[in-house]
Amino acid sequence: MRYIIQKTVLKVKKIGKVKTGWNLPILPLPVCLLGAHVNGKPNFNTIIWFNMIHGTPPLIGVVMSKKHYTNQGVKQNRSFSLNIPTSDMAVVTDYCGLHSGSKVDKSKEFEIFYGDLKTAPMIMECGENIECTLINTVEFKKTELFIGEIVEIYSDEKYIKDDKPYVEKFDTFICLMPNGPYWKIGEYLAEAYEVGTTYKPKN
Ligand SMILES: Cc1cc2nc3c(=O)[nH]c(=O)nc-3n(C[C@H](O)[C@H](O)[C@H](O)COP(=O)(O)O)c2cc1C
Repeated sequence: MRYIIQKTVLKVKKIGKVKTGWNLPILPLPVCLLGAHVNGKPNFNTIIWFNMIHGTPPLIGVVMSKKHYTNQGVKQNRSFSLNIPTSDMAVVTDYCGLHSGSKVDKSKEFEIFYGDLKTAPMIMECGENIECTLINTVEFKKTELFIGEIVEIYSDEKYIKDDKPYVEKFDTFICLMPNGPYWKIGEYLAEAYEVGTTYKPKN
């Protein structure tokens, strides 16, 4: 993928910004392995274009190219899983994003387990697994947006302490859009929904 930066610094006022034109924005996004049963067999592909889109019921939106083999399985079984890999899984995660299940058997790379849905294969080695039913598909020219409702989330025991997420133990990684690289998550910054209460507005 090409990434072109126009070297035209905004002239009106010298504010240290560079116009990047129509390019994918540089965004850090979590990396995930989406699992589905395709023609009766588990398959996994790497995705970074996914996000929560609704709270109650909990809905996740996933954008996938129509070319991907995994899409067939999502539609066949109306179910899929999202598996959050740990940083030591960067190589195999990248491999799943470089090769199609139409040519290689990616199911052999992982220990697989199933939840209630039975058709959403999940990866034991991943720290968190999100099991979803497909409730809607929105078609675009080259992609489709799968909207899944979360039916269950499975977390490694080491990520939970006193019934709360034990964030210090989280070892996930992100991909910097558009072409990487992968980065491990950085340092603790501040409490969300709390630190803003100390802010003094300018007016
Ligand atoms: C880091 C990374 C992120 C990716 N993110 C996405 C994504 O968000 N959506 C998508 O459609 N494809 C994405 N891909 C491409 C698919 O993972 C890739 O084409 C894969 O081989 C498709 O596998 P399949 O044909 O078995 O479904 C990504 C690939 C990599 C390496």
